Amino acid sequence: MPRVNRTAVLSLLIVSSSVFLLFQLYYYRKYVSKVSYNVCKQQKTLRKNNREMQKAHKSTVKNFLALAQRFRLPVFLVDTAALTLLSQDALRQHDWLVRELHCSFLCTGRPITSFALHANQWKYNSGFLLAAEQKGFELLEFRGEDPRLASLDTLSGEEIPLHFLFRLHGYIIQVVFLYERSGNYLWHGALRLRGNMNRNFAPFKQLDYGRDAGVYDRPDLVLTVLDGLDVRVPRNISRFLSEQRHARFLECRYRDARNFLQLYPEDSSPAAVDFRRKVKSLLHLATQTLARLNIPFWLSSGTCLGWFRQCSIISYSRDVDIGIFVVDFRSDIITAFTEAGLTLKHKFGKVEDSLELSFLNDDVKLDIFFFYEEGDIVWNGGTQAKSGRKFKYIFPRFSLCWAELLELKVRVPCETLDYLMANYGASWSVPVRTWDWKSSPSNVQENGVWPLAEWAELIQVY
Ligand SMILES: *[C@@H]1O[C@H](CO)[C@@H](O)[C@H](O)[C@H]1NC(C)=O
Repeated sequence: MPRVNRTAVLSLLIVSSSVFLLFQLYYYRKYVSKVSYNVCKQQKTLRKNNREMQKAHKSTVKNFLALAQRFRLPVFLVDTAALTLLSQDALRQHDWLVRELHCSFLCTGRPITSFALHANQWKYNSGFLLAAEQKGFELLEFRGEDPRLASLDTLSGEEIPLHFLFRLHGYIIQVVFLYERSGNYLWHGALRLRGNMNRNFAPFKQLDYGRDAGVYDRPDLVLTVLDGLDVRVPRNISRFLSEQRHARFLECRYRDARNFLQLYPEDSSPAAVDFRRKVKSLLHLATQTLARLNIPFWLSSGTCLGWFRQCSIISYSRDVDIGIFVVDFRSDIITAFTEAGLTLKHKFGKVEDSLELSFLNDDVKLDIFFFYEEGDIVWNGGTQAKSGRKFKYIFPRFSLCWAELLELKVRVPCETLDYLMANYGASWSVPVRTWDWKSSPSNVQENGVWPLAEWAELIQVY
């Protein structure tokens, strides 16, 4: 009995496990084919959605460009994503969707396309806005004070258009208004949402333009065909894109400057007026010379303080101070300045340590301080010629912004106040006429003495 039973149980076990195995096999096949069917379906939907999105994007741009053309608004493409694709060109031609829809450059995957417009070519045109509305565009308009009217004499300017956002099919066309400034460059304002504006109108964080005010040299434009549409683009796209990355502009603080000048009126003696004229021409010369060498510089020490505190130069300062990162040093800098008509007055230190150049032009001194980056600080050196003593001036790290001084586009540290506070302490806003560069600055440190044997090389006075 037990023996028979054992055989029966064994057979039963074999049969049932076979059935189970078959079932598993069957289920597995069914399940897998279902999954892969789903994946396929998902991909199809994705492609379909993608196609719809690209169609909508392209149609928005196309509609907008048609309008701009009809109303003779010479907008040009400044969209960083589209321009980047354009500068990489051939790479995207392989994408099947790109080929199918013919939208290689304008369909960037972002729901925004940005254009710029020279503001002097914009006349407030209700016809244009009406036509846009009829095409289904919604408009959000950003206005702000006209900075070209702001100066030490007048403060509040009239309001001007700064940015337009047009929306159609969920896609945004940003129009950035560029204004000609007195320093012969183009400026756009910051885009700021005001109280009652629709905060969901656009993905504001993704906009290329408007986080800050920005400035540009006037770009050379070319008309080209992109994805079958006539579009103006900057001729040198890589130059434009690199300008765009460092375009942030700081307006002078006219209100504070005016308060300062009420307390401490500007010196209007002929000598002071003459000095300002000379500084202006020296600063122009320095800007041109360094631009030719492709060396970025910024206003430093007293010249920076003059810009920040009084939107002008400090007439008793007697010199112009600029900073250059030592990594940007080029050995032909001295020749370039002497060829521009300046005379070398002294050269202290060396590229590896505390380099400082000083030139003279029309009895105004141009001091060029080279800055060294070290961890989270930046420093420049000083040398006392007669004793060989070295000094070190320490600043917190900073980035560079554009600003305007004496009708010139120049750079200043973006964190201007931190920079000036490091140099002049908390009382930077109070004029100090007697200033000792070895002891007055808040950030000066003694830094040893140059070895006597090296003086001839490291302390050159002309
Ligand atoms: C574009 O600009 C860059 C940077 O300013 C320059 O090096 C380059 O030569 C320019 N290209 C053309 C084709 O002009």
